[in-house]
Amino acid sequence: MRSSRWFDGQTVSGLLHRSSLRAGGVAGSASGGPVIGIANSWSELVHCNSHLRELARRVKDGVVRAGGIPVEFPTISLSENLMKPTAMLYRNLMSMDVEESIRSHPLDAVVLLASCDKTTPAQLMGAISADVPAIMLTGGPSEPGYCFGRELGVGTDLWKYTDERRAGTLSDAEYRQLESALIPGHGHCNEMGTASTMATIVEVMGVSLAGSATVPATHHRRGELAEATGMQAVALAHAGVSLRDILDERSLHNAIVALMAIGGSTNAVVHLCAIAGRLGIDLPLERFRAISQQVPVIADVRPVGRLLANDLDRAGGVPSLLAVLEPHLQLDARTVELGTLGDRPRPPTTDPTCIRSLDDPVYPKGAITVVTGNLAPDGAVIKQSAADPDLLSHRGPAIVFDGVEDLMRRIDDPHLGATADSVMVLRGVGPVGAPGMPEWGMVPVPDALLQQGVRDMVRISDARMSGTAFGTIVLHVAPEAAVDGVLRLVRDGDIIDLDVDSGRLHLEVDDDELRRRRAEVGDVVPVRVRGYLGLYREHVMQAPDGADFDFLRGDRAAARDNLPTGLFDGWLSGW
Ligand code: FES
Repeated sequence: MRSSRWFDGQTVSGLLHRSSLRAGGVAGSASGGPVIGIANSWSELVHCNSHLRELARRVKDGVVRAGGIPVEFPTISLSENLMKPTAMLYRNLMSMDVEESIRSHPLDAVVLLASCDKTTPAQLMGAISADVPAIMLTGGPSEPGYCFGRELGVGTDLWKYTDERRAGTLSDAEYRQLESALIPGHGHCNEMGTASTMATIVEVMGVSLAGSATVPATHHRRGELAEATGMQAVALAHAGVSLRDILDERSLHNAIVALMAIGGSTNAVVHLCAIAGRLGIDLPLERFRAISQQVPVIADVRPVGRLLANDLDRAGGVPSLLAVLEPHLQLDARTVELGTLGDRPRPPTTDPTCIRSLDDPVYPKGAITVVTGNLAPDGAVIKQSAADPDLLSHRGPAIVFDGVEDLMRRIDDPHLGATADSVMVLRGVGPVGAPGMPEWGMVPVPDALLQQGVRDMVRISDARMSGTAFGTIVLHVAPEAAVDGVLRLVRDGDIIDLDVDSGRLHLEVDDDELRRRRAEVGDVVPVRVRGYLGLYREHVMQAPDGADFDFLRGDRAAARDNLPTGLFDGWLSGW
């Protein structure tokens, strides 16, 4: 066992390490079984994760029952709602916290407790890099709120009713009712936003137990899953199987198949590219486009469909989704149960109106696709399944906003000159530019157009958008404006041609004119700031590389546990 390097032997350091664990209230002397860390992202600032303390207690019960020694430790937590400018700015920091906490401590395996949407990829990325056996338990979706005679999706309905209020079809008093109704309690957003998407992907990649992703946060089954997860962590410790032994090209393929089929979040594209980078696997955006052409959306869940995550759970959850998707899956991919995806049960759905068949899908193609062209030479993504079908092929004049302050100042200016045909361009909000690539890509439709009945327009940006959002929105344009992407050169009135079917995003400005404009605007002046923001700006990569830090990528050889041998006794020899 890895922990024996800390605890074995009648040496000064062995004694001190054992004594330290006992003094922390951990039962026994750490010689009775594997030490299982519980990386807990509980925080009162993150309502999606506020039930993880109780789940950690149940994980401990499972660890003890299987003969292990549970040790809970905190990690940074990330609130999608409360952290500004964006939780994404801190995803890499959280992954570093998780990686180094695991690497530096006497842990034989780790249970990762995540829920709010960036906490899931952050913990996963950190545990991959630490290369110690790990299993994840996600927090589950919240119960649906209820207002205006219908069940609410947390983000999807917030955006929808906000537009209705701006259009004048919902009163201020009605709008205020949402405050107490929208989020009824523990758990992550309950539609197919980024959190539900990442929880599904984690299960499909075999990192969490079968059937765990969609179980509501408050359901007693989630506690039972926590115990089972703790028990399985002990088995993983004995087997010495880490996430690098489980995850490979097959797992990533299956993750993309699931992403397409569930109507998943565009954010998952960024996270999967980052995860691939941590594994040392090349995952070009073209791979997403190719799978999107083969796998339709079959989960009838908002924002693409009608229902919510709790309906998906009642319909059979991920196991029943996989039953339908079987022809597209690589079933020999490995799982934390120390078997394969093909070994997991795949019962037929109990509700074929929620989990549809491949022949009768919710949307005939995958949820998300990729467009490229002179405006995005390295690619951009669009959630075609949540767009107005009439706008998926569109030519129109640009209206350009430089950053979110410019956008907020002018979006409702009566002199803006926007029509339903305009293409709204928001730039300077990518990984480097914002920084942190916030979810600002869902540029609002101007009030005046909303009041005319317009509900969607083509929008383009180097930002991301919430997984709960919808509209004809091209995101993650790479390279971004802040690193001298062509997006930086677009001017009001330029014609932009979007054709999603053929994968084209073209700025109808010739190369000579673009060269002239580049000379006119000059070189990008790098922003130098201290601290974490300085580190972030200097090392963050573009969206197709997952917006990860360049120094965190790498395969097992690059990320090996590099604690020097002899450290444990050598450190104390002169004490
Ligand atoms: Fe946490 Fe939506 S706010 S998942």
